[in-house]
Amino acid sequence: MITERPFVDFYSAHGLTPTRQDVSDLKRHFQRREALHRQLGIPTGLLKNASLVEFGPGSGHNAIFWASCKPARYVLVDATPASLDGTRNQLDKYFPEAKYEIVASDILHFQTEERFDLVVCEGVIPTQKNPGAFLQHIASFASPGGLVVMTCMDAISVLPEILRRYAAAQVTEGIMEFDKKLKMLVEFFKPDLSSLAGMSRRHEDWVIDQILHPWSGPLLSMPEAIAALEADYEVHGSSPRFVNDWRWYKDLHGAGFAFNQSGAESYFGNAHNFVDYRYATGSRDAGENAKLVEVCDAIYSKQFASERGIEPYLPAALIQDLERVIECLEGGHSETLAALKDFVNCTANGRFNELSKFRKLWGRGQQYLSFIRNAETALVHAASEVESALNPSGE
Ligand SMILES: C[S@@+](CC[C@H](N)C(=O)[O-])C[C@H]1O[C@@H](n2cnc3c(N)ncnc32)[C@H](O)[C@@H]1O
Repeated sequence: MITERPFVDFYSAHGLTPTRQDVSDLKRHFQRREALHRQLGIPTGLLKNASLVEFGPGSGHNAIFWASCKPARYVLVDATPASLDGTRNQLDKYFPEAKYEIVASDILHFQTEERFDLVVCEGVIPTQKNPGAFLQHIASFASPGGLVVMTCMDAISVLPEILRRYAAAQVTEGIMEFDKKLKMLVEFFKPDLSSLAGMSRRHEDWVIDQILHPWSGPLLSMPEAIAALEADYEVHGSSPRFVNDWRWYKDLHGAGFAFNQSGAESYFGNAHNFVDYRYATGSRDAGENAKLVEVCDAIYSKQFASERGIEPYLPAALIQDLERVIECLEGGHSETLAALKDFVNCTANGRFNELSKFRKLWGRGQQYLSFIRNAETALVHAASEVESALNPSGE
C-alpha cells in the first residue's frame, strides 16, 4: 500500500501512534531530553516564557518535557486522531496547569501569521513525499533569530534498518495478516532490540514504525536539509554532536560566516560513523564518505522500489551493493564489517534465522539538528539599526 498522507493514513488505519516511550521513570526521561538539548546547544532555562510550536508530537511523550520548560505559548499540530488524543492525555496527566493549544491539521496545510521562538519537528520529515519542501514549510514559522529543531535520517544511518526491512520481507513472505506479521517480527527482532541498552520504545511500536510502516518518499540527510533551507537558516547544533568548527570566530563575518558550509563539511568528514553507533573514529577523507553516501542511497532507492512493487531487489544485487559498502569501510570498524558480512552470507543462503553478528548492528538512526533563522541577517539588521541611530544623517 502506498500511503496517501505519509504517517497519518497508516497510523490512523491502525488506530495508534507507535512512538510510545517508557516514561515510568520520569526523571530519566527528562534527563535524556535535557541531554538532547545540551547537545543541540539549547539551554533549557532559556525556553521559559518562550513561544514554541511542535509539528507532529505523536504520542506526546516528548511534549511533556517541552511543557515542563514552561513556554508562554505552546502550539502542537498533528493530524492523526491517536496522536492528538495521546498528546492531550500526556499533557493533562503530567501538566494539567500547562497552557497549550492543540491544532488538528495536516502540517502542510497549517498556516498562521504567528512566528515562534522555537519550531520543533522530530521524527516527521524524512520519508515525507517531499522532505525538503516539508522542512521549508515548518521552518517558515520560526521568528528571525529563532530556532528550528528537526531530525534528519539518511541512507547510511538507517542502513541496518533497511536491511532489517529486507530480512523481514523474506521471513514473513506469504503472511498477509498484520497482527500475525507483527507478532512474528517482534519475536524475530528480539535479539536485535535487546542488544540496545538505551532503547526506551516498546518493541511492538518499533516493529510497526520501522519495519511495517510503508515509506512514502525519500530520506533527508543533513546536507540535503541544509540545501533545502539555504541561506535563510544556519546550522547551530547537532545530536550526536558531530558538527564541530575549528574556525576562529573573528574570521566569521561576510562570506566567511558560512556555518552551513562548515556543518556540511562535518557531515562528509564523519558520515562513516553513522553506519554503526558503536564507533566514533576520527574524521576522514570526504571523497571516501561521498562514495559511501552514494552506495547507501542506491540501497535505499532499490529497497523502496521493491517495497512499492516497482522492481524486486534480488539477493545478488543486494550482495553486490553490500560488498561496495564493505569496501568503503575496509580497514576500520571491524564489528561493522563482520556484521555486514554476516548479512551477506544469510542473504546468499536465504537463511535469515541464522543472523548472528548482524543483530548488534544499529546505525545512528535519526540525527537532530538545530538551525537559527536568519542569524546573520538579524545580526546585520541589529548592527545597522545601531549605526543609523548613531549617525541619523547617514554621513
Ligand atoms: C513518527 S511520529 C513522531 C512523534 C514524535 N515527534 C516523536 O519524535 O516521537 C510522526 C507524527 O507526525 C504526524 N504527522 C506526520 N506527517 C503529518 C502531516 N502531514 N500532518 C500532520 N501530522 C503529521 C503523525 O501523525 C505522527 O503523530
